[in-house]
Amino acid sequence: MPVLRSAFIALSRNAGLRRFSERSSLGRRMSSRFVAGMEPAEVIAACEALNRQGIAATLDSLGENVTTPAEAQTSAAIYHRLLDEIERRKLNANVSVKLTQMGMDLGSGLAEEIVAGLVDHAIAANSFVRVDMEGTEYTDATIELVRRIHARPGSRGHVGIVIQAYLYRSEQDIQTLLGDGIRIRLCKGAYKEPPDKAFPAKADVDANFVKLAGLLLRSGIYHGIATHDEKMISATRQFVREHGIDPASFEFQMLYGVRRDLQTALVKEGFGMRVYVPFGHEWYPYFMRRLAERPANVLFIARNMLRK
Ligand code: FDA
Repeated sequence: MPVLRSAFIALSRNAGLRRFSERSSLGRRMSSRFVAGMEPAEVIAACEALNRQGIAATLDSLGENVTTPAEAQTSAAIYHRLLDEIERRKLNANVSVKLTQMGMDLGSGLAEEIVAGLVDHAIAANSFVRVDMEGTEYTDATIELVRRIHARPGSRGHVGIVIQAYLYRSEQDIQTLLGDGIRIRLCKGAYKEPPDKAFPAKADVDANFVKLAGLLLRSGIYHGIATHDEKMISATRQFVREHGIDPASFEFQMLYGVRRDLQTALVKEGFGMRVYVPFGHEWYPYFMRRLAERPANVLFIARNMLRK
């Protein structure tokens, strides 16, 4: 399986296959299991459907590693529109952004200015901006940028970050971020990282996830525990029970189209659940990372396509 994971992650960076797939209608049909649609109206409809089931959403306009400031501004404009729609329609939703989509590769000043503008909008709309975590070449810069924006008056509670349990450094980063009072989404990590930066063995990633989740759950700050792994969910449940933690003081988070059964079961149990809902034409790298996490998805998608 690690071989297949690496193969899909390598494919996620293949520009030719990406261009071909994103333009083909077959590619779009395949992606529809994990991507809510191509246009903002489709993601709003998906969000409303989740909200009706008692599930909150975080909306993600797909795209990463933009190459011009104009592209970064276009991406930001979509997010401003989403924040307007969230406020206008009173959706139970916030937004998730990637710094490389906001121009991080073009100099951190641009991304910081754009994200600060989005956080200001979220403050006015009483919403929240989650900054996703990308590969380790961006970890330091992402943490520093979020800390600076969070330190501005009024930003507390309106901007948060993601920490990946597969990185050795994450416990230290969590201590720093908790010291600032920053909301964290804990996930395992979706990129290919070398063994000097990330635990190569899944068992070690899982053990670190459980340990880090414990730090978050006891911090008194509202965090997101983002996983579809029933072992991680059981460990969280047990920790909450044993430490008398209020289930309303954190939320579980899952990806659109993944373990929908578990999403509704946790809501029925009384836990908060937020689903990450991506949309947009640039779905290819995101979709390939989902196949990397579970190569059996290829068969699953192929079967569904044949049934249509
Ligand atoms: P794991 O991969 O061990 O899977 C456990 C089980 O869950 C599998 O056996 C399968 O049953 C199910 N499962 C997992 N993935 C599946 C899939 N794609 N399709 C079907 N079933 C699947 N990463 C990152 O690096 N930066 C980020 O900012 C984010 N953001 C983020 C937000 C949210 C809300 C979630 C849920 C995840 C992320 N991730 C992420 C992705 C994360 O790092 C990780 O790659 C996936 O969540 C898969 O890890 P699991 O914890 O689900 O466990």
